[in-house]
Amino acid sequence: MCGIVGYVGRSEAAPILLDGLRRLEYRGYDSAGVAIVDGNHVETRKCAGRIPALAKLMSEKPPSGSFGISHTRWATHGKVNDENAHPHFDASGKIALVHNGVIENYQALKEQLVRDGDNDFRSQTDTEVLAHLIGSIYQQLDGKDSKARLLNAVRRALKQVIGTYGIAVVHSDIPNFLVGARRGSPLVLGVGKDENFLASDVSAIVAYTRDAVYLNDFDVVAVERDKFEISSLVGETGDHQVSKVEFTAEDIKKGDYPHYMLKEIFEQPNSVRDAMRGRLSLEECTAKLGGLNMTPAQLRDVGRVVLTGCGTALHAGMVGEYLIEQLANIPTEVEHASEFRHRNPPMTRDTLVFAISQSGETADTLGALHESRRKGYRTLGICNNVASTIARESDGGVYMHAGPEIGVAATKSFTSQLVILTLIGLLLGRMRNLSTAEGSRIIAALETLPEQIEEVLKLSDQIQAIAKKYADVNGMLFFGRQFNFPIALEGALKMKEITYLFAEGHPSAELKHGIIALIRPDLPSIFVAPDDAIFSKNLNNIEQVKARKGPIIAFTSGTGAKQLKGIANEIISLPDVPDCLMPILTVIPLQLLAYHLAVALGRDVDKPRNLAKSVTVE
Ligand code: G6P
Repeated sequence: MCGIVGYVGRSEAAPILLDGLRRLEYRGYDSAGVAIVDGNHVETRKCAGRIPALAKLMSEKPPSGSFGISHTRWATHGKVNDENAHPHFDASGKIALVHNGVIENYQALKEQLVRDGDNDFRSQTDTEVLAHLIGSIYQQLDGKDSKARLLNAVRRALKQVIGTYGIAVVHSDIPNFLVGARRGSPLVLGVGKDENFLASDVSAIVAYTRDAVYLNDFDVVAVERDKFEISSLVGETGDHQVSKVEFTAEDIKKGDYPHYMLKEIFEQPNSVRDAMRGRLSLEECTAKLGGLNMTPAQLRDVGRVVLTGCGTALHAGMVGEYLIEQLANIPTEVEHASEFRHRNPPMTRDTLVFAISQSGETADTLGALHESRRKGYRTLGICNNVASTIARESDGGVYMHAGPEIGVAATKSFTSQLVILTLIGLLLGRMRNLSTAEGSRIIAALETLPEQIEEVLKLSDQIQAIAKKYADVNGMLFFGRQFNFPIALEGALKMKEITYLFAEGHPSAELKHGIIALIRPDLPSIFVAPDDAIFSKNLNNIEQVKARKGPIIAFTSGTGAKQLKGIANEIISLPDVPDCLMPILTVIPLQLLAYHLAVALGRDVDKPRNLAKSVTVE
């Protein structure tokens, strides 16, 4: 949610900042801007629209200078227009600021500034208020050391802020000096040779350096070309090692694919393999998950599991509920992260909480993690981003190792989450009643999955033909049962996110309790109906739609295709796997269906309207 890049070094800042913004565009693309300092003069370019609009503006009048800040916006306060685009300035016009997060008490701070005679606000943003506050404090401070003065002004201003922020600040009179700070929104420092960077995410700077320092909440950092100094707003700073970024700039290129989403869908044989790599023990017929940081006795004592997350991660949790209950027979609940922290769910002492998040930065999931830890529950993360806040603030966890996911619609991270939840179910199950035979059956099936995913991906052309055939529909319904009910939800979410069509997911059997009123010849029903233990029940529901002339697109397996012949309008057959692993296969054709339909409709697949990949506001 909003991306920040800052640079101080010996190269021209403009191309570096622009390149970084392009890589952060997944965080928001309502408007973009840069402020670059040249001598003691700050050049700003900003406009509503995406990075290419900013690039055009910059090419018409290139800003010059070797340090500066930049921003790509996902609007929270104030409309999407040029005025509200970042950077914002203080009243003197010398201090420029970019911000990711929400200043909750901005009205009160603004009223105070206005009372003090500062009336010159040009935008409706909360960010501009912070810029003015820093400027007003800077004016009141004396001292010859202007760097220390700016740092101090930022620190004092932030102490008055209620809310979240990742910020970068420059002053036109203070050469080669950036100030950054974070609370609740991510900020990483990139350490280069005679140059340093600030960014919301390392992907923005990995082309320039793979040495990174991940800042903690309340950290404030003063950054120069050849040094940086981190302090905290609240006492001691935490540990700040320089760590190596796991991936390279090459890993975040689109390659020959037209969209990141398609690339990431096709990466799933590998990402699924990487999610289980080194984690299966054939000998003991179980999973090995050292990152959980739990002893066998502690694992055996788990009496309840709570899975929490948002969006796609929540749907993975819903599959996880079926998985863990089936494999380990432990009562498992799924909670919307955004609801969990504001409710008071009764939890037993032996509850184990998992926060599931690809980015590891989702504010609602982080809030749930904080609430759970505050209450003293062991809280583990299932994250893809290794250096993310959720990964760092949890008591342990399991990394997805899916590689960078850039497409806004989550795809490969979902199947990785399903593999990990299977491993957790297997591990907890084998501490209890799951037999060695059952354990080894699941391991064997897991190991076969990557090849089976390759098979499913070969259906892409067939699915594209179906997408084209149904491209003029106004909406779609998705149905599934048991393990595949969450897949119906996920299929509908993918469809909504990137085609903007109205789409709903339901348990198949709920059809007759109201939804059936919607069935009509121009509204297709997508059934996820593999040849599993409840196929015949699904078939009944499919017949109910058929009887009311609703078009049916069915995803099945085994003998399903034979039984659906003459009933479903379109039938896609998938390989057979044990019922509990089926969602890892069934979700892939639904990702492809949404993708091909979105392309057929001319949608912006990787940057769908109004969305952002990493939602760091509540
Ligand atoms: C946003 C994205 C979704 C994603 C959700 C959770 O809403 O648009 O695609 O599933 O955040 O993201 P996370 O990074 O926590 O998995």
